[in-house]
Amino acid sequence: MIFYFSGTGNSMYVAQKIALGIEDNFISISDCVKKQAYTFTVKDNECIGFVFPTYFLGVPSIVIDFIEKLTLNNYKNQYTFSIITCGQDYGNLFTQFEKLLSLKEITLNGASNVIYPDNYILMFNLLPSKEKHKKMFTKADNHINSLINQIKNKNLPFVRSTAWKYLKTRLMYPMYKYGRKTKHFYTTDACNGCKLCQKICPANIIVMADHKPTWQKDRCIQCLACLHRCPQKAIQHKKRTEKRDRYVNPNSMNRM
Ligand SMILES: Cc1cc2nc3c(=O)[nH]c(=O)nc-3n(C[C@H](O)[C@H](O)[C@H](O)COP(=O)(O)O)c2cc1C
Repeated sequence: MIFYFSGTGNSMYVAQKIALGIEDNFISISDCVKKQAYTFTVKDNECIGFVFPTYFLGVPSIVIDFIEKLTLNNYKNQYTFSIITCGQDYGNLFTQFEKLLSLKEITLNGASNVIYPDNYILMFNLLPSKEKHKKMFTKADNHINSLINQIKNKNLPFVRSTAWKYLKTRLMYPMYKYGRKTKHFYTTDACNGCKLCQKICPANIIVMADHKPTWQKDRCIQCLACLHRCPQKAIQHKKRTEKRDRYVNPNSMNRM
């Protein structure tokens, strides 16, 4: 049973590939949140996995909300792992996530990260050039294959926290926690009112008004699915994103 969250497809692809590799099913956290489905029954020999992106060296808000409400019936210390995707660095994320799970009396047994193009383009453009993507995908695929073997053998290493990692997340994560304002999102005249953004928003906060999206809450998950996946490149954030490329993992299924 692999739970995943993904904005632009990296984590979805990883969850899907691992699920195939260990012959398990994968479950979208955003679908669960939309359906208010938080109770699951784990089989005796089943692994429990959590796959999601790194946000400001920490855990995305939707994953926190999901875990807080999660009930796992028949949980008897089945092997539990987390694979996160990131552009570069994840700081103290695993310790944050381990603590979150421990509040539900779930033990995190192993964790690792897979490097993918960084989809954060709001403040800086961290997206690597398209030429670099192919190399990154090949490297990531090889890494995921070795992770599948480690998960099957239940010996995924757990990267322990250090004071430096702790400090980095401590400094960066508040920017995510308090800064995910939606007021800076807007659409240009290129918007044709196709409603894709409304359909894919995992937080369900986009409402169409006058055939244009409006963001209904003060804060969002900031997964950037709306901005990256707009077919018209019509969704922008402040003035910075107009000239920047968009990104969707080309290998992910079209359902996030
Ligand atoms: C709001 C936000 C914050 C991010 N913060 C980090 C970060 O701290 N470190 C990092 O390496 N990548 C960071 N990224 C990049 C994503 O973690 C990375 O691109 C991830 O693979 C995206 O996964 P997805 O395609 O499943 O949404 C951030 C992306 C977003 C949207």
